[in-house]
Amino acid sequence: MSVIASEYPVMIAGTGSYLPERVMTNADLEKIVDTTDEWITSRTGIKARRIAAEGENTSDLATKAAENALSQAGIAAADIELIIVATISPDTITPATACYVQHKLGATQAIAFDISAACSGFLYAMKMAKRMISDGAYKNALIIGAEKLSAFVNWEDRNTCVLFGDGAGAAVLRRSEEGEGRILATEMGTDGAQTGILNIPGGGSACPTSSENVDQKLASLQMSGREVFKLAVNAMKNASEKVIERAGLTADDIKLVIPHQANLRIIDAIADRLTVPNEKVFVNLDKYGNTSAAAVAIALDEAHRSGRFERGDTIILVVFGAGLTWAASAIEW
Ligand code: COA
Repeated sequence: MSVIASEYPVMIAGTGSYLPERVMTNADLEKIVDTTDEWITSRTGIKARRIAAEGENTSDLATKAAENALSQAGIAAADIELIIVATISPDTITPATACYVQHKLGATQAIAFDISAACSGFLYAMKMAKRMISDGAYKNALIIGAEKLSAFVNWEDRNTCVLFGDGAGAAVLRRSEEGEGRILATEMGTDGAQTGILNIPGGGSACPTSSENVDQKLASLQMSGREVFKLAVNAMKNASEKVIERAGLTADDIKLVIPHQANLRIIDAIADRLTVPNEKVFVNLDKYGNTSAAAVAIALDEAHRSGRFERGDTIILVVFGAGLTWAASAIEW
């Protein structure tokens, strides 16, 4: 006997974000490495980034973003059944950062785990949570992108340290009712042949930090910028086009595109290729730099709270990161 599973539609009921207080400007970086505000601004669009305080961990940033999302959604932590934290800068290798967040929120009913998909993690988490709600397993979920990348940056390497920052963004997902918005479609991809162009090579089991290699700072972000740039543009363009098509939309139906916030030139190149005008593309990387898994989540929250889209509008989220990984989601708000 075949069983036809009913699929519940899933919506985003609330968003939240949190940025640490300390601002590090390009002028501050000029005092640390051989760089200039002019170089950073013209190559990336970044003017400043936030740096977490000592003792302020990824789970603390995640918890604050989650509290803001829960409050906007009007859902109590006690009613959350699933927490997924996307991060590449967890508090500890084990247990998962999501477990610390579960405890800090008092979300005692929730199962909690992390996923590691770099800058694509928030949309990977969204896809997983959506599936777990739509098949009836859970009603309310919390997905969080949170990073304390300042702990994994080599502050002597001007090629990378100017790019990254700390922060967290969150969204509450729940079953949607008749007449409410819904996540329409998600497109995801991975290319494991490209693990070498953007990674943290040390600190894992393949290369544990030891007294012999400690000076090499292997447990910090390393990147071949130009290669990443080209692949990022192609992957995000293709994922966006596919998700727009799968959702039965055209570019004209899109109110706002919210891309991963890594580099303004990457964002401009995608907007050009998608023939979406710049005013329909959300950018906040000038303030925060690249916060990896947190970036699109923070951008979603800021765009939402500043009224860049409203109920009934269709938006596209599109991301790209180490792995390589990429994803795009079409959402009717
Ligand atoms: N300040 C000043 N000069 C710098 C610098 C800095 N912070 N970082 C690098 N440079 C120098 C390089 O050493 C190089 O000098 P050289 O020509 O004497 O060797 C020069 O600037 C040009 O480097 P190049 O790599 O050609 O610059 P670019 O135009 O490709 O820009 C990135 C570099 C990193 C900004 C760009 O490649 C990029 O954004 N890539 C994608 C990165 C990304 O988004 N990663 C995350 C994906 S999730």
